[in-house]
Order: sequence, then C-alpha cells, then structure tokens
Amino acid sequence: MGIPEEANSLRESVQPPLAGVHGTAQGPRHLWGTLEIDALGQLRLGGIPAQVLAERFLTPLMVYDEQLLRENMRAFHQALQQTGLKYDISYAAKAFCTLAMCKLADEEGLSLDVVSGGELYTALQAGVAGEKIHFHGNNKTPEELAFALESQVGVVIVDNFTELTLLEGMAAARGVFVNVLLRISPGVEAHTHEFIATGQQDSKFGFDLASGQARQAFRQVRHAPHLHCIGLHSHIGSQIFDSVGFVTAVERLSELYAQGVILGLPLRILNVGGGFGIRYTEDDTPMPMERQILAISAAVRRSFDALNLDLPELWVEPGRSIVGLAGTTLYRVGTQKVMPGVRNYVAVDGGMTDNPRLALYGSKYEAVLANRALDDACGDWTVAGKCCESGDVLIWDTPLPKPQPGDVVAVFATGAYNYSMASHYNRNPNPGVVFVRDGRVAVVVQRETWADVARLDLPLVYD
Ligand SMILES: Cc1ncc(COP(=O)(O)O)c(C=O)c1O
Repeated sequence: MGIPEEANSLRESVQPPLAGVHGTAQGPRHLWGTLEIDALGQLRLGGIPAQVLAERFLTPLMVYDEQLLRENMRAFHQALQQTGLKYDISYAAKAFCTLAMCKLADEEGLSLDVVSGGELYTALQAGVAGEKIHFHGNNKTPEELAFALESQVGVVIVDNFTELTLLEGMAAARGVFVNVLLRISPGVEAHTHEFIATGQQDSKFGFDLASGQARQAFRQVRHAPHLHCIGLHSHIGSQIFDSVGFVTAVERLSELYAQGVILGLPLRILNVGGGFGIRYTEDDTPMPMERQILAISAAVRRSFDALNLDLPELWVEPGRSIVGLAGTTLYRVGTQKVMPGVRNYVAVDGGMTDNPRLALYGSKYEAVLANRALDDACGDWTVAGKCCESGDVLIWDTPLPKPQPGDVVAVFATGAYNYSMASHYNRNPNPGVVFVRDGRVAVVVQRETWADVARLDLPLVYD
C-alpha cells in the first residue's frame, strides 16, 4: 500500500533551505523557525541578534528556539492524529535533557523516554509525572531500576534476559506490578539512505528476533507475574531518511506480536522508536516526518489486519527531529592559520567538547558569521575547535567571509546530541544554554566556570 493521498495535504515539518551561506547574494531572509538574517546582516534568533546574545551570555553558547521546539512537537501530534490510531509521543531525552526541555515536552503533551538514573532524575525534577516516563537502557543498574520503581514510571522497556529476571525479582520483593515493553532487535538497520534488512542482528540492544530470543523472552515474561508485558519496541537507527526500514520492522514485529497474543500476553502497544531524519546541510534530503508516520501507520494497519489482530497503539520516540534544528551554537572567532593551496583554519572558543559529532561520526554542519551574515565569502574555512586533537573540527571547508577575531560564528542544527554529549576534555567548561522567544531570553543552564570543572576534585589523601 502506498502513502495515502491525504499525505499531500499535510503540513510538513521544517525543511530548512540551505542556511545563509555567504556569497549567495541573497538579501535579508528567513531561514527556519525564528532564525533570520536582517538587513544589517545580523543573524537573529527569537528576534534577538546573535551578537547581543554572545555579548551578554558569553560563548560558546547554545541557543534554542522555543517556538520551533513547540512547533516540532505539535507536528508529531498532528501527524499521529492523522493516522487514526491511538498514539503516544515520547521525547527521547538523550538528545537534549535539561529541566526546561523536559518541562516543555511535558507541556506539549509528550511522554519522556529516559535511559539513565540521571535522565530520570532530571525528568522528575522538571515535574514530569512518573507515569509519563518510559525507562530505557541496555544495562539498567539495580539502583536505577529501584529508582524507576519508586518513581512509578509508566513503562520499563526491558532490554535483555538479565533485566527481565532482575526486574521481576525487584517488583516481587516490593509487591508491585510493572508495565513493560520488550525491546526487540528486528534485524533491520536504517541510517540515512541505508537500509539493511538482515544487518543488525549483531547489536547490544534488545532481544534478537531471528535467533528466537524474542520468543524466549515471551515465555519468560509470561512466567513473571509482576511484569505486565503490554507491548513491543524497536528502534532501528537514527537520521533515517525514508520509511522502508520502519515498514520492514513493523512487518516483522507484528508477526511476533501475534505470537504474543496467542500466548495470552496483554499486548496493546507497538513502539517503533525514533530516528526521523533532519536536514543538517543541503545534502540531506529526509522524507518529511509526516510521510514517514503515514507509511508506518499504513504498515501497521496492513500487517495487523492481515493477522486478524486488534490495532495497537502506535508509539514513537523522536529526539533529533524535535530538538536538532531548534539549536544553534554561537562561538567567538579566535586564531587563524592560513595555508594557501592547503587549507584555511579558523579556531573558535569551543569545539569537540560541546559538539563531538563530527569527531564521532563525521557529521556535517553549516555555519555563518552571525555578525556579518550578508558579507560575501572569501574562500573556504575549516572551523576548528580549541582542544588538543587534530580531529577537533566543527566544519571542514565551508565558505565564510575572512573571519576577524571577535566575529561570532553560528553553527546551525546543533540542538541534538551536542550539549547532551558535551565533555570536559582539556578541562573546558560546558557552555551555557539559553532559550529564546519573542525577543526574550531565558537561561536554562548556566555556563560552567573553571571552578565548576574542578569542583569534585579532592587532594590526594589516603584513608
Ligand atoms: C531507543 C531509542 N529511542 C529513540 C531514540 C531517538 O532517536 P532520534 O534522536 O534519532 O530520534 C534513540 C536514539 O538513540 C534510541 O536509542
């Protein structure tokens, strides 16, 4: 079955144009969300010039567009409402987990997917009710599981046999009952354009479908009286650009689901995870999330109807597609190293400590000089960080005007897996984080100081 006709009438989520790359001779313009370049060549976020934010809050600085965050969450509601299925959207907090973000997701009617005691703690501190929290992880410690039980989380996504036994024991000892989903590794891997139908058996996550582990998990959970197995989960990858992998996963999971129903398990949920791709650069061409959701829901209806099963609730866990494009990082230009015929480097006051994604996965980004966004480019510049690693680069060879010390560089689409993966390498403090909206700013994470970085150090004294 193809994508229903009505997909064409859907409002589709943000597909930003090529960011204001220098030298394209375009005048002032809107980029996406509240990002715009004004007539003076100033990049504005939430109506505020980046230069003003950089001066007031210092750099590096993570800036989140609150309006766009909310719009992205509402777009998921709208897309899932169109499917006619019962649904739940769980924000994958790993993408960016702070009190303010958890609260925003809660306000927008999303559940929270957490993968550690720290994320669970943050969600609870933000005021999210335990029942709205879904607890993930391939190696939840007994302390984390105890915390989850005390917090009465809505569902634990059980990853493996060890956890199944441990959780049943802990629930029995406390005399409580726990809703669980089983995380299944369906033998489907999808990243960007790549889709491998058999490739992902070798994964540390979930019960393997092909070798029979998943069916074995059914048998075990059936004999765990304190665990209510209410559904199945799979997450097939990240930065997924089409629906093919999702559809294959749905087809495989629905057959397993049917076996679970025959075994008498109270299944009612199919959670297809996250992974909806976004446009980091002009080379990225993700199928809009709305179309992916429609294709997934069509596959659910087709597969469940064919198996004579009641339709399940469709659960999703987006992270990047909610926060990625809403985040921009501002840096100050420091030094330069110009090598004609080789490469031009411009170094900024952050780097792999606030954005390790290029070093980790070779990720690509776009940038502008935020205080001179209408100036013509003067060659290609490699934006390097300040850490003692040659691989500490934010962008290789991007067109920029000749940078001057003090210029503000804005790197776009840094909202997902940047701040949440930040490190203190070289004892660099983590940046501050602000939300912007309608010309106003809210500091949601304070900028760290050198003292913060050394705060937990102790002198060498043996007991
Ligand atoms: C289980 C699970 N769900 C959801 C996500 C969110 O993925 P994304 O940010 O690509 O939407 C991840 C990311 O790793 C994940 O592991």
